[in-house]
Amino acid sequence: MLLYHLVVILLSIWSCLGSHFRGGIFTWTPTDNQSQIEISYRVSWRRSAGGHLCSNSDIVSGQLLTGEGSLECLQGCSGTMTPLSYHCTDFSESEDWTTGIRTFIYNLPTSSQDIAFGFSSCCWIDSLRMGGGASWKLQAKAKVVKRVDTGRINSSPITSISPIVRIQYGCAGINTINLLVSDPDNDVVRCRWSTGQDECGGICSSFPGAIMNEENCTISYQANNNIGYYGVTVQVEDFPSTGGTVPYSSVPLQFLVEVYSTNQSCYRLPEFIAPTKADRENVYVNSGTTYVDKIVAISNVPNKRYYMIPSY
Ligand SMILES: *[C@@H]1O[C@H](CO)[C@@H](O)[C@H](O)[C@H]1NC(C)=O
Ligand SMILES: *[C@@H]1O[C@H](CO)[C@@H](O)[C@H](O)[C@H]1NC(C)=O
Ligand SMILES: *[C@@H]1O[C@H](CO)[C@@H](O)[C@H](O)[C@H]1NC(C)=O
Repeated sequence: MLLYHLVVILLSIWSCLGSHFRGGIFTWTPTDNQSQIEISYRVSWRRSAGGHLCSNSDIVSGQLLTGEGSLECLQGCSGTMTPLSYHCTDFSESEDWTTGIRTFIYNLPTSSQDIAFGFSSCCWIDSLRMGGGASWKLQAKAKVVKRVDTGRINSSPITSISPIVRIQYGCAGINTINLLVSDPDNDVVRCRWSTGQDECGGICSSFPGAIMNEENCTISYQANNNIGYYGVTVQVEDFPSTGGTVPYSSVPLQFLVEVYSTNQSCYRLPEFIAPTKADRENVYVNSGTTYVDKIVAISNVPNKRYYMIPSY
């Protein structure tokens, strides 16, 4: 019997979204003041690790949780940019995770055209199939001079993905993970695996068998190897649409893939149906207004929850 689930979500603001680290992402956009950028991030943690015990009332109140660690300047700037406190947006008691977001204003150094900043410490969750308990590192690079074509500082590409992507083990065919990228400056966006200690700490190359399609930012994966959690580390980069191999910026995107086994037959992914907007359709929203839209999906798997993360 097919059970149909209707999912209706109201989008208001951008919401989601130790051995306790479970992934993160950093993006930015210029403000009206050309000597500042606004940096946004999402971090995910093991909920039972100290300091990440988010509750429903934390989500409702929107209060700032202390979080953990700080974003550090690595190149072209110096010192700590901000402590990584966050507003919790989601948590799961049974799966033991918390995820939260925050945005802050950063005053740019006057002398630098390029800056790099990052977040690193130990450790990724122990249950990773490869690199469990290893140190984490995320690194972002940003050109912070005014662009001649736009007259503004570059905005990084935008990307969003749920903190855990689930793939059923042993189902024939290739699974596709769509990284849902876009770029406010209409630059060309490409994705690649993070490489080296600076970009992925102790979990580089820890999603074996997955293939990155750099041009369209999808990851192809045949889930016939091992079940379990995989840490995935990606850089999302924006290039001039006129060509060129040097990106304006590089955004770290790190998340988990869970390959799980079940006796249920292989299912089709839930499908979006009308009135949901088409994939990659652009919607223009005036700043300072609330945007509301309806998203409807059908699934053929009973009693299954899906997380939906709007990309903007
Ligand atoms: C822009 O930001 C800088 C750094 O915070 C500040 O000193 C300056 O007054 C700001 N300019 C305007 C026009 O707000
Ligand atoms: C993305 O690129 C891969 C490799 O070129 C291709 O097989 C796949 O069909 C593309 N997917 C989309 C959604 O364009
Ligand atoms: C699948 O079925 C087998 C045999 O009936 C059982 O031992 C196993 O626990 C089941 N696995 C799951 C995930 O339900």
